[in-house]
Amino acid sequence: MVHRVVQWGTGNVGYHSLRHVIRHPDLELVGLHAFSRHKQGVDAAEIAGLTGEVGKTGVLATDDIDALLALKPDVVVYTVKAETRPNEVIPELARILAAGIDVVSSSMIFLIYPPHADAGMREPLAAACKEGGSTFYVSGIDPGFSGDVLPLAALQMADRIEEIRVQELCDYSTYPDPEFTGVSFGFGRDADYTPPLAIPGILQVGWGGMVRMIADALGLELEGMREKFERDYAEQSYDTAMMHVDAGTCEAVHFEIEGIVGGKPVIVTEHVNRLRRDSAPHWPQPPVGRNGVHRCIVTGNPSVQLECFVTGEDGDHNTGGVQATAMRIINAIPAVCAHAPGLISTLDLPWTPSHNVVRN
Ligand SMILES: NC(=O)c1ccc[n+]([C@@H]2O[C@H](COP(=O)([O-])OP(=O)(O)OC[C@H]3O[C@@H](n4cnc5c(N)ncnc54)[C@H](OP(=O)(O)O)[C@@H]3O)[C@@H](O)[C@H]2O)c1
Repeated sequence: MVHRVVQWGTGNVGYHSLRHVIRHPDLELVGLHAFSRHKQGVDAAEIAGLTGEVGKTGVLATDDIDALLALKPDVVVYTVKAETRPNEVIPELARILAAGIDVVSSSMIFLIYPPHADAGMREPLAAACKEGGSTFYVSGIDPGFSGDVLPLAALQMADRIEEIRVQELCDYSTYPDPEFTGVSFGFGRDADYTPPLAIPGILQVGWGGMVRMIADALGLELEGMREKFERDYAEQSYDTAMMHVDAGTCEAVHFEIEGIVGGKPVIVTEHVNRLRRDSAPHWPQPPVGRNGVHRCIVTGNPSVQLECFVTGEDGDHNTGGVQATAMRIINAIPAVCAHAPGLISTLDLPWTPSHNVVRN
């Protein structure tokens, strides 16, 4: 079955999502939302850099929401900048869902596991799903795949569990996202700056859903969550695709969200993100020869470790990360469209592999 898709947002994730949707044999691009003025009226293939491959699609980018909803797509692939603008994004998502259109989203990572999300975000969207008979699913690579499929796969080979640790150890120097990741992680800023992620409670809002999802999948009641956040600073100035880094400003971040059981951290999600491969060498590193890894370590008897490496079409691990984020939600489209209305998580879905096998 071919699903009719409106792609919403054409930034880091959306650009790749649009490329995948245009090329996908089981998806038909029927509409494209772009926020930026210079993209209005531009053909989707041009925005996706695919005119040489597919010519024109005839789908022109627009910010006319009524026109996009009137297309009655099966699904919206929603990939706009969202976490810094919930007051605009929640009503926009509610409008799409209330119109009876399913949404798969990389945006609003706070809703990766709806039972963990703040009621102020969850309730308007749940009401919109009820009104429209529609379904809403949020995922990505991290938060997302690394904190659900990876640990749930590892745990199938485990018996006694002491700790489940999910890691993203990733060099972000090739990730051009200074406005959100840069600011929220505190990269390129000195020690006096308090980045949003260092504000108590924020890490739990962003990544705690992963911890809670694993706990619920195991039937574990968490006594609470604890957060850790620390930074490392550059000795020299240098430039990256993320930003210019001055000597003395932050070039690496280490954070953890611990799910506590029996007074101990039992489910831990951990990030180490660097703008220079050799910074903070005392923190966990990806394997030699790799710039990034998503890893799950189950410590127990037996102990199990799974490692995931993604590589994009340009050979870069950060491009791989945004492509994987896009494909995580795109591959879920048939299952999400077939699901009963409401806010759902990966725990509600069957396995959603790609079926797009190259046959020539
Ligand atoms: N879970 C994961 O693993 C994962 C990984 C990566 C990203 N994400 C999430 O995915 C979402 C997209 O990330 P991204 O890096 O692609 O974001 P981005 O490049 O910063 O922004 C995406 C698009 O949002 C639109 N936009 C920007 N400002 C806007 C505004 N004020 N009003 C309306 N639209 C606006 C623009 O659309 P146009 O370009 O169309 O004009 C922009 O290109 C974020 O919520 C991010 O947290 C999740």
